[in-house]
Amino acid sequence: MEEIEIPKEKLPKHIAFIMDGNGRWAKERNLPRLMGHREGALVVEKISEIAFNWGINYLTFFAFSTENWKRPREEVEGLMKLLDESIDKFKDKLIENKIKLKVIGNIEELPNYLQRRIKYVIEETKTGEDKVLTIALNYGGRWDILQAVKRIALQVRDNKLQIEDINESLFSSFLSTFDLPEPDLLIRTSGEYRISNFLLWQIAYTELWFTPKYWPDFNEEDLKKACLDFAQRKRRFGGLENNA
Ligand code: FPP
Repeated sequence: MEEIEIPKEKLPKHIAFIMDGNGRWAKERNLPRLMGHREGALVVEKISEIAFNWGINYLTFFAFSTENWKRPREEVEGLMKLLDESIDKFKDKLIENKIKLKVIGNIEELPNYLQRRIKYVIEETKTGEDKVLTIALNYGGRWDILQAVKRIALQVRDNKLQIEDINESLFSSFLSTFDLPEPDLLIRTSGEYRISNFLLWQIAYTELWFTPKYWPDFNEEDLKKACLDFAQRKRRFGGLENNA
């Protein structure tokens, strides 16, 4: 693994990934789609190791969307088992490197064995310091916004919160990502230019980076390209550049 020649302050602190193209990667090789997902899980492991090592402390991977239930039963079941195996496999490395596991999404709808695994690994890694690996599982950006709205509404109904108290910062604190910084960079593979109901509120000012490569082919070189590109962008957050 190489060092990266970008100064730490120019690196993104939080990268979110839409890992697309596993199915097409497998199809091109005449393999079952699940083999694409398996290869994809190995890439999650490799890319996380590299990025954490470079000092990027927050990584978020979109592993299963609220819409992915529409896929054939076999693929959904295979993905659930793969996620269970992967989270189990990641556990020791997360503990060793003091990385916390976080899962965002509607966990209650997942198979019980996977819910148990998630709770166990979250508990085992909770003393992790400032690095967080987040897996979005049964996640949808609209789901996240709605669950926040419902919980805020309950607090208003119960007089624990006044309508005047609702602002961007309060709203963010009700999202599943309440304890994460907003992503600086969003990477999507496989040549699609969409957000696909991933983090919606949270990416208001995120830089977007797309590559035609399928997720199983995404590697250190690609991550470096995305980070170099990011380091050169001028982020103004709606204002003007310094000294402009
Ligand atoms: C999109 O490719 C990929 C997914 C819906 C699943 C991603 C899940 C993993 C890589 C499993 C492991 C993840 C972790 C975090 C351990 P696609 O199936 O839509 O590909 P296609 O567009 O080519 O059909």
